[in-house]
Amino acid sequence: MEKMICRILLLLILTSCVSGSFVVNVTQTSYQAEENHNITLEWTFTTNPDRSIKTLNILCGHNTGQNTSVLYRVHEGVEVSESQDAKFSGRVQSDKDALREGRIRLQVSRLRTDDSGLYLCEVNTDDGFSVGRCTASITAADDQLQPQRPTTKPPAESGGMTGFYILMGVFSVIQVIVESRA
Ligand SMILES: *[C@@H]1O[C@H](CO)[C@@H](O)[C@H](O)[C@H]1NC(C)=O
Ligand SMILES: *[C@@H]1O[C@H](CO)[C@@H](O)[C@H](O)[C@H]1NC(C)=O
Ligand SMILES: *[C@@H]1O[C@H](CO)[C@@H](O)[C@H](O)[C@H]1NC(C)=O
Repeated sequence: MEKMICRILLLLILTSCVSGSFVVNVTQTSYQAEENHNITLEWTFTTNPDRSIKTLNILCGHNTGQNTSVLYRVHEGVEVSESQDAKFSGRVQSDKDALREGRIRLQVSRLRTDDSGLYLCEVNTDDGFSVGRCTASITAADDQLQPQRPTTKPPAESGGMTGFYILMGVFSVIQVIVESRA
């Protein structure tokens, strides 16, 4: 009997850990924008009406492959702007109303090409911990692009091959003529 209760307890503990009732999702997995434009990155997380906002901790970061910098941070329900990396200073607008509904909406303005990369948000509450990630690709504005020079290599190669085939054709025609005369 005691063994049975132990098993049930163990099962309960395991399922509550494994089932992962607390999730962070992304509404879009990848974003594409041009330099100097805006994007609004969005994550959603499981809400619970019984949960106090004070138990909400969020850390959103940008990872370029080499560096990770803080984009947005909420500590015990309060935004901590001091944690934000200088490169995002004055460029990130959060939506506080959305946050109460379980949506992290961050508008990043005056985009730069080095804003490209991986963005992830970790949400930590009394109900659990989860991470959501998305990527952004910021392209240089058209007027700053180098005029694209036609790449010469592939056409030259295919041109060379075309010449080769024409030459082969000519040779076989000559061969046919020669043979028919013989
Ligand atoms: C970006 O957002 C700012 C502030 O919301 C707005 O004034 C500006 O027009 C937007 N720029 C673009 C390119 O959408
Ligand atoms: C997260 O995504 C799953 C699967 O699409 C969905 O069932 C769930 O409701 C979403 N949860 C939140 C909080 O967005
Ligand atoms: C990474 O951080 C270092 C030091 O802050 C900086 O010098 C470097 O330019 C950064 N590299 C990238 C790719 O952002």
